[in-house]
Amino acid sequence: MIPQNTIASITEAARIEEVVGDFVTLKKRGVNFIACCPFHNEKTPSFTVSPTKNIYKCFGCGEAGSSINFVMEHENMTYPDALRYLAKKYNIHIEEIDDDKGREERQARDSLFIINHFAQEHFQHNLQHTDEGKSVALSYFRSRGFTDTTIEKFQLGYSIEDWDTFTNAAKEKGYRLELLKKLGLVGEKNGRYYPFFRGRVMFPIHGLSGKVVAFAGRTLKKDKKSPKYVNSPETEIYNKSKVLYGMFLARQAVRKQDDCILVEGYTDVISLHQAGIENVVASSGTSLTPDQVRLIKRYTPNITILYDGDAAGIKAALRGVDIILTEGMNVKVVILPEGEDPDSFVQAKGKTEFLNYVKEIQKDFIFFKADLLLKEAGDDPIKKSAVIQDLIKTLAKIPDPIKRALYVRECANLLDISERLIITQTNKIKYNQIQKKQNQQSLKEAQEAHLPASTQDLAEIERIANKKVVKQETTGLALCERDLVRLLLEFGEEFYDIDYYVAVYIIQQTLDLPPTNPTYNKMVQLYREHLEEGKTLSKDFFLEYQDPKINKAAIDLLSSPYELSENWKIRHEIFVTEIVKNFKPEVENLVNRYKLRWVLKMKDENQEKIKEAQKANDIDTSLALLKNQMQYEEWIKQLTTKLKGVIIR
Ligand code: GTP
Ligand code: MN
Repeated sequence: MIPQNTIASITEAARIEEVVGDFVTLKKRGVNFIACCPFHNEKTPSFTVSPTKNIYKCFGCGEAGSSINFVMEHENMTYPDALRYLAKKYNIHIEEIDDDKGREERQARDSLFIINHFAQEHFQHNLQHTDEGKSVALSYFRSRGFTDTTIEKFQLGYSIEDWDTFTNAAKEKGYRLELLKKLGLVGEKNGRYYPFFRGRVMFPIHGLSGKVVAFAGRTLKKDKKSPKYVNSPETEIYNKSKVLYGMFLARQAVRKQDDCILVEGYTDVISLHQAGIENVVASSGTSLTPDQVRLIKRYTPNITILYDGDAAGIKAALRGVDIILTEGMNVKVVILPEGEDPDSFVQAKGKTEFLNYVKEIQKDFIFFKADLLLKEAGDDPIKKSAVIQDLIKTLAKIPDPIKRALYVRECANLLDISERLIITQTNKIKYNQIQKKQNQQSLKEAQEAHLPASTQDLAEIERIANKKVVKQETTGLALCERDLVRLLLEFGEEFYDIDYYVAVYIIQQTLDLPPTNPTYNKMVQLYREHLEEGKTLSKDFFLEYQDPKINKAAIDLLSSPYELSENWKIRHEIFVTEIVKNFKPEVENLVNRYKLRWVLKMKDENQEKIKEAQKANDIDTSLALLKNQMQYEEWIKQLTTKLKGVIIR
């Protein structure tokens, strides 16, 4: 913990123009400074730094705040780390009030970082200033086309072949050999310590703050006996699944380009950087983990996966991508020509040609996968059906319904099957996902309420959740209002016309004709109340509304397919047309159909009343009722004309 008065002195000392000026070139304009915003891509500067207010603000993207905010945002630091950074810059001593445990942990981590830093400098020294390093390693890097600047930038190094140099240097510095062992820098045999990396070129792996968390060492020998790369083990400061090689150097560019290029190898990252393509990170030969995806997601929702043109490269491109989709990211895949990796390709072609190739070849992941699997399946119908199932699972992972709809359509084309089939299948999967989530929620609620959730309770919850109670509504009106509410939920927030929502149209048109089903009625009412305040409602609003009847109705509406082919057609068309943003005809059609059902119902009821009135010889009433009846028939005529070709059942 950093004491409050220290925080105060840091805030007082930090000058916004100095803090920002360390990262951004500022130009004086009047009392302020301006620059191109480091948080979004722009050509004319709208990023303003105000020394008098001691804040920054971008009029383009809205980022704004104090020195602390700037450091946190720009350097991706936590609040305490940003404070520590600023304290260091302004020579403010931080006396952290810590419990013993916290202090010990931090000290332990600090020692690991210190030792890694020592090792990195040691390896770098070997490379630059020893005969062995210069003759075998430096010449190797140069033969691979790495410039001195690049070698410096990535802090590349070399580990001496012999058994003593490294351990002796560490001992001289007084470092504890157990800690070096923990970091994987030395091994131990019969009480004797020896360097773990020997005769390898060294690639330090940096954490986000730029400190060295681990090393990878590449052999320079041609023989296949030892592995090509060896890596540091996991430690308190190195969690393999959370680190991406190069992220420390790439993140500004990733944010600016709004795209993160993902490659496999260390050397791929380095060569692309050297060519001026800096928004690149490496998964280091393993498949991507969810944590790594989230790391990228902090900076951009777009990933371009760049892999070698061999079979292994392609398989690697397929792995882990479902994870990326689950996170709602956009994934493109680029396969390089056979025999090339990003390193060799960019060195051969140069930046422009390389980027042109990427732009031309890149393919949306789903289509890439569909293409590839289909080719593999050939004409075999069983294999083809497996491909379809596989793709459907992938499609169901896309959280955004609009994006999903777009992909569904494209995949249907590609696979030459009906969109409807895919939609039904993805809906099934979605439905189960929602049900599962609900299950967990009811379970959590039960636990939170301290109700002992007995096995029976659990079985009951499961039974209810799994029972698909799609109540068959039988009358035309009931079916129609179901569709109407579904439309409201699913597409209410889309534009019906240039300046108003589908929801506004539906609600206005049906003000006097509320759904007969009480739950639907309540939902429409809720929607109307919110519209009156100018707000539309998302699906989640209903899925999470505190009335379980409404949740249930929303799940059913959003996840089960229409039962009637007539309605299917509407839904189908909506799915297609919402992509081209043309809701109007479908919505209008459905609203008219709904109105027609309503009038037909009123006409039927009126007919009954007429019968009764006539029975009772009540001439006045029956005349009035007959007049109504004529009005109803007129409406029916009008509506059917509007609905033209639509057959009424
Ligand atoms: P160069 O052959 O020097 O160009 O390296 P590269 O990075 O292109 O290597 P390659 O394409 O063979 O492998 C890609 C990545 O997979 C490497 O950067 C490593 O992260 C990882 N890798 C490759 N071989 C090994 C290995 O033997 N052991 C481990 N742990 N990782 C490896
Ligand atoms: Mn390579």
